[in-house]
Parts: sequence; structure tokens; C-alpha cells
Amino acid sequence: MHLTRRAFTAATAALTATPAMAKPVQKPIVIAHRGASGERPEHTLMGYRLAIDQGADFIEPDLVLSMDGVLVVRHENEIGGTTDVASRPEFAARQTVKFIDGEKITGWFAENFTLAELKTLRARERMPDLRPGSAKFDGREPIATFQEVIDLARTESRRVGRTIGLYPEMKHPAFLASIGLPIEARLAAALKSNDLDSASAPVFVQCFEPAALVSFKTLSKARRVQLVGAGSPAMISAQGLKAIAAYADGVGPDWSMVLPTVDGALGPASALVKDAHAAGLLVHPWTVRAENRFLPAKLRRGTSPAEHGDAQAVFHALYAAGVDGVFSDFPAMAVAARS
Ligand code: G3P
Ligand code: CA
Repeated sequence: MHLTRRAFTAATAALTATPAMAKPVQKPIVIAHRGASGERPEHTLMGYRLAIDQGADFIEPDLVLSMDGVLVVRHENEIGGTTDVASRPEFAARQTVKFIDGEKITGWFAENFTLAELKTLRARERMPDLRPGSAKFDGREPIATFQEVIDLARTESRRVGRTIGLYPEMKHPAFLASIGLPIEARLAAALKSNDLDSASAPVFVQCFEPAALVSFKTLSKARRVQLVGAGSPAMISAQGLKAIAAYADGVGPDWSMVLPTVDGALGPASALVKDAHAAGLLVHPWTVRAENRFLPAKLRRGTSPAEHGDAQAVFHALYAAGVDGVFSDFPAMAVAARS
């Protein structure tokens, strides 16, 4: 039976309904970070499908904008690192230099291409040396729009018989606003037109920039998560978390802020989960990756940075710390550790 958008939302609301205050969800959610991005090029529909087959509860699209204002799914607005644009002579003259969030970047930028032009490009693995298996899928898929990912989640929910949630991230909102492409209103409109504009919808909207989440709160009822990098410890102090709770439903810290590394091993859990729950916030740390390069020294196995280490230890310790969900490039591992 075909579910309407409204029925889809209503039928799936129970999965992610937020408790009134301070109570973590019963089972931590597994968030497929850019898809099953350890095994397929990030942000591709095939990567999202694989993640869903592996048991992911939510799929994560990072969002930027095309020149004509369409939400497209890329980790950053510079698209040279994850597409074949650098090999396309027709776009050679689009290479340029920009200052994005204080960083000088040379490359090709999504906002300098129309959606039709972006659609001619093909996605590539970002880290082919670390992930040669994923790189075998280079060139197979175009850049996806946010609407295509919403449609995929809906179609896949019917196929697998469970709700697949959406966890979109607004990328570079201050920069995009500075060039006349504010992203908040476009995301709010997209959620609204898909009947996902409610606190009970299977959606979390995330961002590193607090101002964008505060702005988004005025535009949409969808739940919000404040991302926090390891370089911003003040944000996860008890006081900082209370401030976040004024405009967000959850906090998404670097996982090392929940589990500090001590002498190359996982140390005891920090107070972050306890303090966040006390402030009424969910806790969804990012991003657990299996390769040695991303693991503490004592969890590494073998000698190559690309070999997989003991990521299971990280998942188990995060779940034991009481997190409400976890982002991973390897959702199958996150699901296995949860069970
Ligand atoms: O959104 C969670 C995590 O993805 C934040 O880091 O840089 O991978 O988007 P990034
Ligand atoms: Ca992200």
C-alpha cells in the first residue's frame, strides 16, 4: 500500500518521539553517517540503501546549495574532493579560491553550479587509499538532492517495514547567507512540503553553528541537534549544555568528548552524557570509524592505517555510557554492537 507523506509521518512518529524531559530513548539509534560511507562513496543513494539494509535507523545527508538554490547532498560546498569535477574540461574555468569559515580553499563550489550542471557530475570516494573497496564504486552515481534522499527514506521504510529517519546537517550556513543563499529557510520549506515539520517527525536537524539552529527554530518544529567539535569544550560544560537546551533537543559531540583517550586506550566516560540528560538533551556522538587511522592506538590492529581495529570497543563503551544514538561510517558494526 502506498503511504501518503502525512501517513508516513504519522505512522512513524512513535519511533523517535522525544521524551518530555531528560529521559534518554530506550534503544540508541544508529545514524548512517553520509550513508554506509566506509563501504560506498559518501552521500550516494546506494550508500544509504546499504546502510538501511545493515539496520541503520537514520540516514545522514549533509546539505549545501546549488546556484539555483536547490538543497544538494555534499559534506562541503567544495565538490572537488568527492566528485569527478576536476576531470571535466567543461568546468575547468570554474575552479576558484574562496574563504570558507576562515579557511582558504581552492576548488569547485556547489553554489557556482546549477543543479542541472551538478547532476552531470559523478560521486567518488573521498579517501580511496583508506577505502579502496568503496572506491570501486566511483563514477556510478550523480550528486543527490535532499528531496531524493527524503524520497529514498520513504520508499525504503516501506520496503524494509520500519521507519528510516532523516538526520540532515546544514553546512556552512553563515557563509551561504553571506552569498545570498540562506539554507535555513530552504530546509524548513523542504521539511514542510514533505509533512516532516513536527517534533514527532522522524527527523533531527543538526548544525555546528548555533545561530543557524536558533534561526531554524523560528522556521520549523523539527527537532534540532547542536554539533560540538572537540575544540569547543565550553559548549559541553553543564552551563554550556543548559544554554544549548534553550534552542536544541540534543547535542552531537565528537565521540572523544564522551570517551576521552587515556594512554592510547579508552578512558572512563566523561560527565557529558549525565550533564546533557540533566539538561534535557539527547546525546548523539560522531563519528565512529573502523579504520586504525581513526582509533586510539591501543585499539588498532595490524600495521596499516586502512586496516580495521577494535571499533566494537568504542561502540560498546558509548552505549554503556548511555548515549541515545551514534553516528558511524559502519552502521552494520554499530547495529551489531548494540545487539
Ligand atoms: O554530523 C555529525 C558529523 O557528521 C559532523 O561532522 O564533518 O562529518 O559532518 P562532519
Ligand atoms: Ca555531518
